[in-house]
Amino acid sequence: MTDSPLPEAWQRAEVPPLPAIGSDVVDEFARTIYGRTPDGGRLTEVVLRSRDDGVLDGAADRLRHRAVIACPLDDLELDTVTHLPAGASAEHPVPLVVTLDFEGNKEPPAQVMAAGYAVLAVDYQQIEPDDPDPAATGVRALFPRESWGAVGAWAWGLSRLLDIAGSIEGVDPAEPIVLGHSRLGKAALWAGAQDERFAVTVANGSGCCGASLFRHPGGEDIAAITTKFPHWFVPSFSTYAGNEDSLPVDQHQLLASIAPRRVYVTSAEDDAWADPIGEYLAVQAARPAFGPDGIGYHLRPGGHALLEEDWLHALAFAKR
Ligand code: GCU
Repeated sequence: MTDSPLPEAWQRAEVPPLPAIGSDVVDEFARTIYGRTPDGGRLTEVVLRSRDDGVLDGAADRLRHRAVIACPLDDLELDTVTHLPAGASAEHPVPLVVTLDFEGNKEPPAQVMAAGYAVLAVDYQQIEPDDPDPAATGVRALFPRESWGAVGAWAWGLSRLLDIAGSIEGVDPAEPIVLGHSRLGKAALWAGAQDERFAVTVANGSGCCGASLFRHPGGEDIAAITTKFPHWFVPSFSTYAGNEDSLPVDQHQLLASIAPRRVYVTSAEDDAWADPIGEYLAVQAARPAFGPDGIGYHLRPGGHALLEEDWLHALAFAKR
């Protein structure tokens, strides 16, 4: 694993003050950016569909479950995948990472399994299509009275994965990690802020509306993100385009709202669009809300991706 030393200039950059974090701060993020996550969406059934033994060179099993979640207008059915390290059993349950996958279910890196974690995932578009004008409908259509963006829907999905985990033999859902990359890193942070069951929240390359500060110039801004991805947020969020200073919140407050539960932010040196410095400064600014080792940051060389080394840094932080 390679670490990048933090650039000298970053260490001299101004860290914004952290306003007092009241119980209403999560509501403020809901109101201005992500929308309100509805209560409910009750897990009614989890059925094992199939089990492949010995995938990843015998280091893991793969369990496929169909889960049914009753929502106000209809059921949402999810086809999840659990990657379970060899040896996990009802007598020896293993710690859990919940995450969302891009474009179908991918194998987590072999070292994650070797480290003894189960990974429970679903393709994010099974929860809500990633499209301003989707052909098929997702969970937002099943809650007719709410106004929430797709990032909020994906965060809701992460909480449902945690509900499902309770029914999966060999998984210990007690101190779960929620992890996401990029747009799904934004969703992981929003899930971590709202769902106190998540013990550790990991956001990799999450950028604008993730870990990076709106008020730090560089990378993606509100105009860019709301033009290309208007469906990710509440419609009124776009009124802050070009007017970041008038936002009632900034992302260090989102990180701090998760305390005392733990947070880990990872950036890549060449991922300018995600504004690594803005992510680092948000972490520094949020530090006063956390205990020692309550929040961590890592910068690695390279570009925008979730690499095996990102997973391993996050798991090493979680283990501390
Ligand atoms: C785009 C978008 C980012 C997002 C990224 C991703 O680049 O502008 O905000 O994080 O896609 O999800 O890969």
